[in-house]
Amino acid sequence: MALLTGNKKIKTAVFISGTGSNLKNLIQFSKTKKSPILIDLIISNNFKSKGLRFAKIFKIKKKILTFKKKTDEKKLIRVLKEEKINLICLAGFMKILSRNFIKSFKGKILNIHPSLLPNYKGLNTHTRVLINKEKYTGCTVHFVSPKLDNGKIIIQKKIKIKKNDTPKKLAKRVLIEEHKLYPKAILKIFNL
Ligand code: GAR
Repeated sequence: MALLTGNKKIKTAVFISGTGSNLKNLIQFSKTKKSPILIDLIISNNFKSKGLRFAKIFKIKKKILTFKKKTDEKKLIRVLKEEKINLICLAGFMKILSRNFIKSFKGKILNIHPSLLPNYKGLNTHTRVLINKEKYTGCTVHFVSPKLDNGKIIIQKKIKIKKNDTPKKLAKRVLIEEHKLYPKAILKIFNL
């Protein structure tokens, strides 16, 4: 990853679809002294995304696109380039980005996934993990490549599954770990 230039922080966009707890956590991290990133833009594919409220709370620009039209992504690429966005963090973003989009920001898109990749790619990870009676699960931050949940792994956290776990309980415990892991992944890619 390109190194920090002088004291300037890396202009970052966070993409969300829902609650945005990872977004809130990244915003809080970005305000710490050790953070190499500055969150400049919030993107959502969903007008009803609860996480969009953090744009107002933290005075960050936001843009909502349905990603239904082909031109939507093209428009977005233009906006991101205009804003000089150098890092994209997907945080609960439930839309699959096109190969062209990913190529336009090669090596600059990160994602957090609620499983120990390469296991349990895709949706409903916690339910599938429990059905399969796994002993462990966790979360992964990885670079985004055109193949779903398949890019280079940056960092993972493993947690033990409890006997009385439900998908909801597990999601809650994994999310706590996600909030610690995403900032760690960002520090790691910038060798900090
Ligand atoms: C998180 O658990 C994240 O790992 C997951 O959605 C949740 C979003 O929570 N992402 C995926 O499943 C991506 N395939 P948040 O909106 O509170 O950050």
